[in-house]
Amino acid sequence: MSDPRKIYIETYGCQMNVNDTEVVFAILARHGYVRTEEMDEADVIMANTCSVRDNAEQRIWGRIEVFNLQKRARPGVVVGILGCMAERLKDKLLETRKVDLVAGPDAYRRLPEMLAAVRPDSPQIDVALSRDETYADISPVRTDRNGVSAFISIMRGCNNVCSYCVVPYTRGVERSRDPRTIVREACEVFSQGYKEVTLLGQNVDSYCWKEEGRPDVSFADLLEMVSQVSPELRVRFATSNPQDISDAVLETMARHENICKHIHLPVQSGSNRMLEKMRRRYTREWYLERVARIREILPGCGLTTDVIAGFCSETEEDHLLTLSLFEKVGFDTAFMFQYSERPGTIAARKYPDDVDPATKTRRLNEIIALQNRKSLESYRADIGKRFKVLVEGPSKKNPDELCGRASNNKMCVFPGLPSLKPGDYVEVEVTGCTSATLLCKLTDA
Ligand code: SAH
Ligand code: SF4
Ligand code: F3S
Repeated sequence: MSDPRKIYIETYGCQMNVNDTEVVFAILARHGYVRTEEMDEADVIMANTCSVRDNAEQRIWGRIEVFNLQKRARPGVVVGILGCMAERLKDKLLETRKVDLVAGPDAYRRLPEMLAAVRPDSPQIDVALSRDETYADISPVRTDRNGVSAFISIMRGCNNVCSYCVVPYTRGVERSRDPRTIVREACEVFSQGYKEVTLLGQNVDSYCWKEEGRPDVSFADLLEMVSQVSPELRVRFATSNPQDISDAVLETMARHENICKHIHLPVQSGSNRMLEKMRRRYTREWYLERVARIREILPGCGLTTDVIAGFCSETEEDHLLTLSLFEKVGFDTAFMFQYSERPGTIAARKYPDDVDPATKTRRLNEIIALQNRKSLESYRADIGKRFKVLVEGPSKKNPDELCGRASNNKMCVFPGLPSLKPGDYVEVEVTGCTSATLLCKLTDA
């Protein structure tokens, strides 16, 4: 047989895709493939793709062209598309004749077989979605750079039907993963030296493991179980949905120091009329009540969000309601997007995409400007505080400094010491800030 085949994967989209790429490497490793980070030497070049907004897909079309330059230079190279765009576009990707393999998010176990069958005149496609695939038995090959923080998927798919969103179509129905395999994976990464796990799902609060003759395992129960792997292992999670986040989860977080005090709680809009049209199952008032409850049970908890500007029929009044909600809540940071119509979604079928692009951009910029001011306020409010930080590695800007996150998820930078290494915990005091970083010194304690 020939040398092991080298495989190169670029990953786009959310953290779940990052973790899926790690699952793909694990599946292919069992069949003798080795990972490379150099496209030039790869026998198989793939992109794990995202469809959430049109610009995410446009980027992939550009990458397919680049991959094809490799194919032209080195005949025999296989080009594959994985993930959400594979699922959404299916054969349309093969019709370009620039792609040899298309595999949706639930088809990764078949990749070795598909790769073995690929021929120039016989491309391979599998976009079947599953009701039960969770890749529970597969230990992902970690691709993070620091060996400190690992992703663990606890569920797949999504049962919500937010009208703007393509994810339920690309990822299929929601299914939870056996909690024993989740705890086992957390133990495994901890024994490899990792100090932080992030539990991933599109709506973690609806996690539920059912087994006959046993009580259901809820997300709060799962958090409790993972937090007990070790007090030295930090636990984070994403994403929480405002309608489902329960007091039981908040109380579990409060009970365990190693469950990080940060919640990513996407609001999408501050207007009830928009929320209804988006098919989000909460109101502005409900959202604000949840925020108040978070702050009551978890003082100092980090809070971040996602928002969409210019959804169908959004008026100036709706937009002002989003601005006023941002003013009121004071998020630490936010991911802010213009609405991008996705074919096949409820919104695309029922509502005209009628906010003109210039207005979308202006509204988005207004939200960004407001949020930048709020971020600075939020980071300034931490000056003088002391935080326990998990060291991740050298700071990006200054290699003499170290960086790492506080429990509230804010990035801290501080002068290094020769004795400190990634994975250590240190105590810092905040002495200054920007709107995205806390500038700190090490405390003597
Ligand atoms: N499951 C998560 C979100 C996953 S998608 C949740 O429900 O919160 C990540 C973010 O992309 C969303 O929160 C939303 O803000 C944004 N998004 C999703 N579809 C979009 C679209 N069609 N146009 C613009 N932004 C979108
Ligand atoms: Fe999309 Fe809504 Fe599911 Fe999030 S909860 S992935 S926004 S459908
Ligand atoms: Fe994108 Fe799919 Fe994640 S559409 S955001 S990669 S679930």
